[in-house]
Amino acid sequence: MKILYLSASAALGGAELVLLDLMAMLRESRPDWRLSLVLGGHGPLRDEAERLGVACDVRPLPRLLAGLGDAGLGDGTSQLALAGRLAASGPSALAVLADWRRLIRREAPDRVHANGMKALLLAAWATPRRTPLIWHLHDYLGSRAVMSRLLRASSHRPIAGVAVSRSIAEDAMRVLGPRVAVQTIYNAADLNRFTPGPGDPTILDEAAGLPTAAPETVRVGLLATFARWKGQRVFLEAASRLPADIPCRFYIIGGPIYQTTGSQWSLEELRSQAESLGLDGRVGFTGFQEPAAALRALDVVVHASTRPEPFGRVIVEGLACGRAVVAVRDGGSAELFHDGVEALGVPPNDPSALATTIGRLVADADLRQRLGHAGRRAAETRFDRDALLGPWTALYESGIECWLDGGGCRVEGEDRPVGVGSRQ
Ligand code: GLC
Repeated sequence: MKILYLSASAALGGAELVLLDLMAMLRESRPDWRLSLVLGGHGPLRDEAERLGVACDVRPLPRLLAGLGDAGLGDGTSQLALAGRLAASGPSALAVLADWRRLIRREAPDRVHANGMKALLLAAWATPRRTPLIWHLHDYLGSRAVMSRLLRASSHRPIAGVAVSRSIAEDAMRVLGPRVAVQTIYNAADLNRFTPGPGDPTILDEAAGLPTAAPETVRVGLLATFARWKGQRVFLEAASRLPADIPCRFYIIGGPIYQTTGSQWSLEELRSQAESLGLDGRVGFTGFQEPAAALRALDVVVHASTRPEPFGRVIVEGLACGRAVVAVRDGGSAELFHDGVEALGVPPNDPSALATTIGRLVADADLRQRLGHAGRRAAETRFDRDALLGPWTALYESGIECWLDGGGCRVEGEDRPVGVGSRQ
């Protein structure tokens, strides 16, 4: 089996980390399969994939695709106009497509796996029709008018969609209609890496340049990239609503990773927000940290995304580490835990509810421990790598005929068809 993976981005965001996880699991369990990866730019994903023994190639993206946002192309844009835009973005768009097509033909993979929507747009046009195409969905389409239009125009061939949550699957089916059938395979966590047990709480203080906190301090942190919608602002506001004398310290773990300006916080911005909220000395900015060690250094893991979260890897990783998790009860993240049993849910964009929930956890060590135990069990039952690899290998191995006739394939243990194509 030869699988060719396509990823528009080579930065290490959640979607790329999931791709790495999947490739690592396949390298272990199917060492005879040949995996290769084509990236739309340079970045750390390449080295990480090569370390796994995955052959990598970098090809430029068409200019239009690289900078595609929703701005400037409204809902009224017709497919014809969009096709015009694509063409007008230069011979480059067509030349790039031809280049990807040549590359895919040369590699002659048995399956093409497009990670994310930009990769799918290229793959849908550059992959020979007889080659089964899998599309891994990590994002909501509903909120992206232009992308949705482009994707509708690209679903002219059989595509097997795999969404990271039911919420994402439903959104895709709402937007694309019956053209693409989407099943859900949750992201897995490496349960041998994200383990409970004592962490070294001082690493975060050191990384943030703060004096080591007093021993009874409860450490509360948000670990995420600096995309604005990850909710750092809500987290800081919640922190500022808690009395300054309760024994806790707050941490913002992570940093900016994307090229797009405007859509992410800068460290200076967050620092000055913290200062103006009177949080000086009570919040540490640690930069990127090894996530398992960082989560174990915390007592309370906070997820505060301001938009519905497609999945939310950090929630599952926090559960796997046996930490008390507070997470937004909206979108895909709401599917990841039983509220009040394995984690505490909060409404999105509600600093006051978040403050109350954090306050409750800071005051109640038993509650933290109960949630931590139940959280680890939940991670073992629902997000184990080995268990979640099964549906993936079944999908890759499913017969080619069902892909070609667009009739859909069934994966063992699933009652929904996989990979219904379109002939509309
Ligand atoms: C994207 C989503 C995030 C998800 C990740 C992996 O980054 O925003 O919610 O956890 O992909 O699927």
